[in-house]
Amino acid sequence: MEQIRVVELFAGVGGFRLGLEQASANFQTVWANQWEPSMQAQFAFDCYERHFGHRPEHVCQNIVTAKEGIPPHDLLIGGFPCQDYSIAKKDARGIEGKKGVLWWEINTILQTHRPRYVLLENVDRLIKSPAWQKGRDFSIILRCFYEAGYAVEWRVINAADYGEAQRRRRTFLFAFRNDTALFREAAEGICVSGLKAAHRLLLQDGFFAPSFPLYGFERKYSEGWLDEFQYLDLKDLSAKQSCHFYDSGLMVNGRYYSVESIPVQFPYRPLCSILEDCKPDKRYFLSAVDMERWQYLKGAKHELRHRKNGVPYFFSEGAMAFPDRLDLPSRTMLTSEGTVSRSSHVVVDPQTQRLRTLTPIECERLNGFPDNWTAGIPERMRYFTMGNALVVPLVKAMGRRITALAEIDQSS
Ligand SMILES: C[S@@+](CC[C@H](N)C(=O)[O-])C[C@H]1O[C@@H](n2cnc3c(N)ncnc32)[C@H](O)[C@@H]1O
Repeated sequence: MEQIRVVELFAGVGGFRLGLEQASANFQTVWANQWEPSMQAQFAFDCYERHFGHRPEHVCQNIVTAKEGIPPHDLLIGGFPCQDYSIAKKDARGIEGKKGVLWWEINTILQTHRPRYVLLENVDRLIKSPAWQKGRDFSIILRCFYEAGYAVEWRVINAADYGEAQRRRRTFLFAFRNDTALFREAAEGICVSGLKAAHRLLLQDGFFAPSFPLYGFERKYSEGWLDEFQYLDLKDLSAKQSCHFYDSGLMVNGRYYSVESIPVQFPYRPLCSILEDCKPDKRYFLSAVDMERWQYLKGAKHELRHRKNGVPYFFSEGAMAFPDRLDLPSRTMLTSEGTVSRSSHVVVDPQTQRLRTLTPIECERLNGFPDNWTAGIPERMRYFTMGNALVVPLVKAMGRRITALAEIDQSS
């Protein structure tokens, strides 16, 4: 089989590349880019190069300018920055936000190089963003793919449903060019038997179902058109389009079909299964001084607060499990993991029965990275990069599926 030339955008510490390389030796990364705009030091890039080598095709520069150097490739991958689609950020502006606009960089690369396949990852909210015009941003993304000559299949995957130790829900989007076997199958199927064919692809023969099987669908779905007969251009679509996208879906020839799916649940891995065997350093244990703060952060609140402009409002939120349950998969890890914050995990240490935070190695295990993948960068950044990263075994499964599709395409 021929090599599959890969370009990796927003590479972070290399979760996508690691997963693909675990899937097959046929993936050959011909260019990779990672640049953290908020910091002078480039710790994620350093970690990436420590594993994949200090090479001229590994570029630590803003993608806005770096993209000029991208060579021809077969597969474009990347987990693009998600803050503008995330509910963790107040006033998230979606595709118009500072980070959201990076979609347009991907779009330019897509139009210039037209790789055969594209695999992207983002937060689950991506398909609903922005809050005031639901589904607009994802419609824009689908329309861009349509205009560039691609079909798209997407799935919101909760890693814990497929046997991982973290309840991390992420939108994965796989786009395939109009000269691939999968495109022909999807387009012809939908032409002949309409939404029945879309159903079959999502449930059985498409990109995700063979590796991430579905039990079936809920009776919730949406369908519609995003093509030029419906919307003159992107501006028109952006002004008018609003719809409810569900967690599985397909867009072929400008027509989309989306449905709420029910995953086949694999036995999950509980949080206790990733804890280190030996007693961690004392800095991970909660001190008596911090205890009141932790209890406040994790507890229920209904209190008067003031906005920056002085306007008062009532803030309320419920209590959360404190400590976290060890018999269930973890919650989603955020970039603030390890700090004194509501979202950080706190567990009862099995050796000492005392409360502590997770260690960097345990965070790596939650994402399926090898132990000490991020060793060598400051500890705070080890947590930060894991909060940004993806669950590697999911990508490994997708990598296997891409290899199977590429084999068919290369032989036809
Ligand atoms: C969601 S993370 C991707 C993490 C990656 N999948 C991994 O496994 O580590 C997005 C990455 O994009 C990088 N980034 C943000 N803005 C960028 C820009 N303008 N150019 C290049 N990289 C950027 C961030 O530093 C971050 O590492």
